[in-house]
Amino acid sequence: MRHELTFHVLRLTFVGASLNVVLMISILILIRILFTKQIGNIPVSISQSITILRRRIYRGLEGLWGPFRPMDETPIQEVLPPPCQALFQRMSRSDRAHSLRVYVWLREHGHEHEDLLRAGLLHDCGKAAASLAVWQRTLKVLLKRWAPGWWQRLAAPAEPGSWRYPFYVLQNHPHIGAQWAQEAGCSPLTCWLIAHHEEKPPCHHPHRDLLLALEHADAAC
Ligand SMILES: [Fe+2]
Ligand SMILES: [Fe+2]
Repeated sequence: MRHELTFHVLRLTFVGASLNVVLMISILILIRILFTKQIGNIPVSISQSITILRRRIYRGLEGLWGPFRPMDETPIQEVLPPPCQALFQRMSRSDRAHSLRVYVWLREHGHEHEDLLRAGLLHDCGKAAASLAVWQRTLKVLLKRWAPGWWQRLAAPAEPGSWRYPFYVLQNHPHIGAQWAQEAGCSPLTCWLIAHHEEKPPCHHPHRDLLLALEHADAAC
């Protein structure tokens, strides 16, 4: 009990520090947007930017309250076969909660395709390849959008001991996750959806609609 309390106090301190970094970066970027209305050659809509930042801050806060919030993992037993359930459980609690929200969003929007629902639950499983802090996740979203060249350099291939390894994993989690899903026995379609869930859907692909649904759900949750 005492150890548990100490663990939660340390966790709160760590997440609190991460949130400070997130807020500082967010404020700096917002100031830059307000003065320039664009970064590099990319025109930036302020309302779009605020939505993204708000979502990232919400996800950061979730890391704080996540351990105290009950999570209904019933869909896991219903939708995923046992090897895939193990894959799901490898994710952090906040990533599991996000994946469950993606699953619920898909169901609420009338999607019943089994491969899509499985991809919804497992699309971020590759993130379990590294321990990812809130500020690293936020930095990815911000740099990818506003300084993609910097992001490409930061997320270039790195060894597991490197300080850049979490960024490499963040960039490549769709392909890492698809590989793991294939090893766990997921269908080729589920693996394809996982592998491409952060890319622009190809125009004439037969499963474009499923990928679009997954990306909409991911963005909304
Ligand atoms: Fe992802
Ligand atoms: Fe996601």
